[in-house]
Amino acid sequence: MKKITVNLGKESYSIVIGYDIFRFLPRYLKSLHLPREIFIITNNRVQKYYAKKLNQSLKQGGFSTKFYLTIDSEKAKSINNAARIAENLAFYAKQKKITVLALGGGVIGDLAGFIASIYKRGVPLVQVPTTLLAQIDSSIGGKTAIDLRIAKNLVGTFYQPKLVFCDLSVLETLDKRQTRAGLSEAIKYAAIKDEGLFNFLEQNYHSVFSRDRQTLEHLVYACAKIKAEIVELDEKEEKGLRTILNFGHTIGHAIEAAGGYSRYNHGEAIALGMLAASQMSENLGLLSASVCQRISALVAGLGLPLEVSGIREEDVLRAYRLDKKFIGRLNRFVLLKGIGKAVISKNIPEKIIYNAVKELFVS
Ligand code: NAD
Ligand code: GLY
Repeated sequence: MKKITVNLGKESYSIVIGYDIFRFLPRYLKSLHLPREIFIITNNRVQKYYAKKLNQSLKQGGFSTKFYLTIDSEKAKSINNAARIAENLAFYAKQKKITVLALGGGVIGDLAGFIASIYKRGVPLVQVPTTLLAQIDSSIGGKTAIDLRIAKNLVGTFYQPKLVFCDLSVLETLDKRQTRAGLSEAIKYAAIKDEGLFNFLEQNYHSVFSRDRQTLEHLVYACAKIKAEIVELDEKEEKGLRTILNFGHTIGHAIEAAGGYSRYNHGEAIALGMLAASQMSENLGLLSASVCQRISALVAGLGLPLEVSGIREEDVLRAYRLDKKFIGRLNRFVLLKGIGKAVISKNIPEKIIYNAVKELFVS
């Protein structure tokens, strides 16, 4: 079992990573003195695989559990759904002190985190992420999110969990598409911060798909550590440091929105967004063509998309203009000067952006 501490003063917490560790969860919860009534937010698919195991472990540890199942879709991250769950939580909790536990991927984590942060102005939150993407990214760092019709993640809070508990054995039921989505965020970390990790991904991605335990443990640990270090430096994204975690996200979110959040999943859209941002970096003279090519070769090797299909270019551009990363009218992008070297660029000529998006549509 490995442990990373996210050092945030009074808000510090551990990320625990290991195989078959559900049975140790109660011990961690007790050491944190968390309320014994646990309201678990999950969905049908995840509960089918893991609710029993989690429930047994919590009950044996002296905790009471209540499972709330929501829909299995990005659409779960809606204000109406969050309000519905909060009503259920209030009905269950009455006067009791409650811990909210997110059991699922990034959708469940963002949603449960939001609810925990607003219910009674904040109740303790535990993240038990069950996708590769959630284990290496969304469960860490305290960003919670709800989508509005106009754009994704427009409503949210910063709310740190008390614990992130990654049982790697849950990754065994992930399908290839979801594994790829997680790997897309791993490419992001490597591209912005760690050339060694980039080399590791190039050499070992086959072992991720064959679920080699050592490879997965190393990968989740390495990515979670990068995220933890960046969050420690700039918890609320006020210093421009955490912003680098948005590499590929400006165009990526636009592609996700233009596809109605169903054509491409988050990881796939981010892969396309990273290709666009790399192309922009090359066109601005920041990145060599060979490094740009190295990034697309890895994206292709993992089976992530290289081109956009089934949605319209103008819809992507419209959605892009709504991105949160705009400051006033100034656009803002995370670009690369090399593998592991991210830079933030503002006010990039529209032509550079549009050309990079256009390239994604050329077959
Ligand atoms: P997801 O939560 O939709 O999960 C993907 C699919 O896998 C779902 O169908 C889910 O039910 C299923 N699943 C989950 N665990 C499983 C398991 N162990 N075995 C089998 N199936 C399983 O998607 P995701 O990729 O985990 O997360 C994407 C979301 O995360 C997006 O909403 C994105 O905006 C958000 N996100 C947030 C942050 C953050 O910092 N808060 C960072 C990155 C992404
Ligand atoms: N996924 C971006 C962040 O956590 O800041």
